[in-house]
Amino acid sequence: MLVSSKEMLQKAMKEGYAIASFNVHNLETFKGVMEGGIKEKAPVIIQTTPGTLRHVGIRYMVAMARAAQHEYDIPFALHLDHCTDIETIKKCIDLGYTSVMVDGSKLPFEENIAFTKEVVAYARDRGVQVEAELGKIGGQEDDLKVDEREATLTDPDKAVEFVDRTGVDSLAIAIGTAHGMYKGDPEIDYKRLQTIKGKLEVPIVLHGASGLKDDVIEKTVQFGVNKVNIATDLKNAFGAALKTHFREKPEELDPRKYFKTARKAISEVTAHKIRLTGSNNKA
Ligand code: 13P
Ligand code: ZN
Ligand code: NA
Repeated sequence: MLVSSKEMLQKAMKEGYAIASFNVHNLETFKGVMEGGIKEKAPVIIQTTPGTLRHVGIRYMVAMARAAQHEYDIPFALHLDHCTDIETIKKCIDLGYTSVMVDGSKLPFEENIAFTKEVVAYARDRGVQVEAELGKIGGQEDDLKVDEREATLTDPDKAVEFVDRTGVDSLAIAIGTAHGMYKGDPEIDYKRLQTIKGKLEVPIVLHGASGLKDDVIEKTVQFGVNKVNIATDLKNAFGAALKTHFREKPEELDPRKYFKTARKAISEVTAHKIRLTGSNNKA
């Protein structure tokens, strides 16, 4: 069933696991993620960046999600990822998204609070979950680019003040992860994560999970992360499966054949990540 991500994240927080949240880009990646969720009997979050909305269309995304309710018997949410534009956020809420991320991380603290509050006020009456970001996560996610020098880790006390003043449902924090793949091993500030966990009463979101070693993901979940965002690892799996197909069977040009293998690759990565977050058998 298509649900708000609020209840699933609250349950994950109470029971000490995380919901795996996957960026999708079309019908094939969407179905691949849902198939992974079914295999693991896990609740999942399907998310799209504003760039993907331009590619797919908001109405198409919502229609796919609604149709999926008849096919996949697991709770899932449709979430807008990293949005800096209030009009786009409102439009997604109006058209059927059940969860949104307002990304004011590039704004000064007070402006981030004001922007986030505006979104919370709009979303609350409509039953839509709101995630915000404090601190700056490095790397590139579609339109948003933060270089290493600009990235700043989340201040635990500011995080508490931010959540209190905005009434936001969940918070994305910066503890050393970055969007995209890593050159070498990233340094994850587990101590900061623990401190934030000890002070915060809302679910904590980890961005940039692609490229992290399995035990790093597991450790962040143990230390209190409740939502793990995965984008690049799915893109890579999908693209690699297509490359293999066209190398091995260059004459086979039926999309129903090559997308079938690519979709299977997505569902396998999805199932693996779900197990790392401990959300398997939680649907
Ligand atoms: P990765 O591409 O590193 O998985 O980051 C995903 C993300 O944070 C989406 O918001
Ligand atoms: Zn992100
Ligand atoms: Na990453």
